Amino acid sequence: MDVAAPGVNVLAAINPANMDAFDGFALKSGTSLSCPHVAGIAVLLKSLHPSWSPAAIRSALTTTASTIDPSGEPIFTMGDAQTVAGPFDYGGGIVIPNRAADPGLIYDMGMTDSVDYLCSIGYKYNSSAISALTLQSTVCPSKSPSILDLNLPSITVPNLGASVTVTRTVTNVGPVDSTYIASVESPLGVQVAVRPQMLVFNSTVKKLSFTVTLSSSHKSVGGYYIGSLSWSDGIRVVKSPISVKTEIIPSYTDRS
Ligand SMILES: *[C@@H]1O[C@H](CO)[C@@H](O)[C@H](O)[C@H]1NC(C)=O
Ligand SMILES: *[C@@H]1O[C@H](CO)[C@@H](O)[C@H](O)[C@H]1NC(C)=O
Repeated sequence: MDVAAPGVNVLAAINPANMDAFDGFALKSGTSLSCPHVAGIAVLLKSLHPSWSPAAIRSALTTTASTIDPSGEPIFTMGDAQTVAGPFDYGGGIVIPNRAADPGLIYDMGMTDSVDYLCSIGYKYNSSAISALTLQSTVCPSKSPSILDLNLPSITVPNLGASVTVTRTVTNVGPVDSTYIASVESPLGVQVAVRPQMLVFNSTVKKLSFTVTLSSSHKSVGGYYIGSLSWSDGIRVVKSPISVKTEIIPSYTDRS
């Protein structure tokens, strides 16, 4: 899940024979009603920025989404037992189309990223299978890429042991001379170190990479924990959800 979008009581055209229909229309709720909203916003972003890739559009939508609802309250999950929602429910949050039009930085991806992703999965995706997809001879890098390094606008570590480092690359699509500073909300019991903590873009530097090292101090309980990483130039905030599942670190690695 990347984002959440309006999907409750949406006036929709439906089969007139449907029991809920009133002159062929009804108020409907669900994912199927959110999808056209997001698809429509994606088309508007593409017309505003014709050179943006699908990954760039996804990034712009995700990093500018809101994690509080329009009335300023926390977002809750649906259903009987309402709980405060998190990235596993809404990804980046609720889409804000106007902010997505000017995201500042994007996490872009192209063909190489997709190939690296397939190579990192391994399994049936060997060089001949991937070549059949890319329609050209493609060989996986000799050092297998890490699946955690896929350039998504979110950071997810499904099995955090003591420590893991992920790499991301951002592209400046805002003002040419821009400086972004990192700020982090750490998941409970997880230290997050971002290097470098400042990204300086100019007319020659459009893309910069950084690393995020997540270190868990969980010694007895494993579980799901959430946080975020935000890059800001003082005007724009490029926010990525961080979600980790920590593993219990066996005591033989405990040197504290
Ligand atoms: C890739 O996998 C297929 C099916 O498992 C196999 O027939 C083929 O020889 C493999 N190719 C390479 C380059 O390992
Ligand atoms: C952009 O920044 C890089 C790295 O700091 C620097 O080497 C380069 O000269 C700068 N380019 C311009 C046009 O200022």
